[in-house]
Amino acid sequence: MLFPILFSIHCFSALIAALPSQSENGTSQPHGCREVSIPITVEVPRFLISTEIRDDWDVAALVFNLTRRDSGQGFPLPITGNTAAPVKSTYDMGATFCGNGSTTLILTHGILESKRYWQPDFPDSDQYNFIEAAVAAGYSVLSYDRIGVGSSSRVNSITDAQFQVQVAVLNSLVDHVRDANTARKVALVGHSYGAYISIAAAAAAASNPSRNVSMGGVDAVILTGFAGGFSNFGPFLAGAGLRVARDRQPERWGALDPGYLTAVDAYADAYIYYHAGNFERRVAEWTHARGSEPFAVGELPSLLATNITYDTVTAPVQIVQGKYDVSACGGNCEGQLNKIRRNLSGASVVETVEDLPAGHNLNLHLVAPRAFELMFGFLKRQGL
Ligand SMILES: *[C@@H]1O[C@H](CO)[C@@H](O)[C@H](O)[C@H]1NC(C)=O
Ligand SMILES: *[C@@H]1O[C@H](CO)[C@@H](O)[C@H](O)[C@H]1NC(C)=O
Ligand SMILES: *[C@@H]1O[C@H](CO)[C@@H](O)[C@H](O)[C@H]1NC(C)=O
Ligand SMILES: *[C@@H]1O[C@H](CO)[C@@H](O)[C@H](O)[C@H]1NC(C)=O
Ligand SMILES: *[C@@H]1O[C@H](CO)[C@@H](O)[C@H](O)[C@H]1NC(C)=O
Ligand SMILES: *[C@@H]1O[C@H](CO)[C@@H](O)[C@H](O)[C@H]1NC(C)=O
Repeated sequence: MLFPILFSIHCFSALIAALPSQSENGTSQPHGCREVSIPITVEVPRFLISTEIRDDWDVAALVFNLTRRDSGQGFPLPITGNTAAPVKSTYDMGATFCGNGSTTLILTHGILESKRYWQPDFPDSDQYNFIEAAVAAGYSVLSYDRIGVGSSSRVNSITDAQFQVQVAVLNSLVDHVRDANTARKVALVGHSYGAYISIAAAAAAASNPSRNVSMGGVDAVILTGFAGGFSNFGPFLAGAGLRVARDRQPERWGALDPGYLTAVDAYADAYIYYHAGNFERRVAEWTHARGSEPFAVGELPSLLATNITYDTVTAPVQIVQGKYDVSACGGNCEGQLNKIRRNLSGASVVETVEDLPAGHNLNLHLVAPRAFELMFGFLKRQGL
């Protein structure tokens, strides 16, 4: 069921005028940011995903299936095939754009998150605000809600919310930023599921001859909450205590189909995303109450069934890890990044940091300002 993602992507960026002119919400935001809506058309094959989620009983059964010892090996993923032809879809991407068009960082958040991860809105959150730090360091930023999340189009949790669709969306956003100015430098910054999307987008861009660095490829990639493999998803999936989102909070998520899932409570979020002693509890409470948005069940099997061609990435890559990350490293990242370093054999530079005192949500731990410095230092060393 593996298909190399670079052959699966045929994305057609809507030919859109320059950022940040269209669909602007005139509301002025802090840090010179504004909300925009970007229409994106993608055309990619879909997996035929066989799971059906109606209620929390089904979720429990699915999590069992995905976490049993032989899942994806002897025991199959819930995928029966792929569509014969690519499926064309148009989505409205809700995004925050900040800056003046200097080197642009495109931020992709993870699952059980939203673009608020990069720009938290609780009181005294400046030290955790990646966007504020990036703008202060001279960068422009495009931070978007992934499809199905927050301010972006609602999509079907099984048939639309699939990994390769999200990769095509990101590549179209890169084109969109480049269309405004072909000389503009673009770096991808991904967290967690967004890190897999970012590196797969960089792999696809590097493999497509029409997408070289000057014309739509990317100039650098920064990955966090990521160690390359999938072998530690078990404790993450089980520990999240996943529940049907619309049943938990109908007032907030009643419009989502039942395949959108959320973590059961703030303590489940603390287990999967935070490391004791290295975060403020008010931050984890905010994560559960406001930062977190449901993810769609189609996102997991479609990622697990995709062979990301790491060796085709040519851009410089930095991986910055909280040492105690559960889903990326099984709770201890020491020595866990060697394999992905080797996989990124075509990247011009691979830098790794594996020992920051943090769990999965690196940006929301006390070490965040240091993590941001490391990322911007890497970009500067790449001339960005
Ligand atoms: C702009 O965004 C703000 C804050 O999200 C919202 O309250 C307002 O209704 C929006 N205005 C328009 C014209 O969409
Ligand atoms: C779990 O796997 C079993 C056996 O393949 C299957 O019958 C069942 O439908 C799966 N459950 C879910 C919710 O995907
Ligand atoms: C954009 O802003 C950055 C940071 O404030 C600044 O260094 C740069 O010169 C600006 N570029 C232009 C074209 O105004
Ligand atoms: C990148 O693509 C553009 C347009 O197709 C082309 O003119 C340029 O030569 C390419 N550069 C490289 C390094 O391949
Ligand atoms: C995955 O991709 C890599 C790199 O292109 C290739 O070497 C490997 O054989 C592929 N694996 C599978 C299972 O397709
Ligand atoms: C990554 O490296 C491991 C061994 O270190 C290898 O088994 C795997 O096929 C590689 N994956 C890719 C996509 O290159």
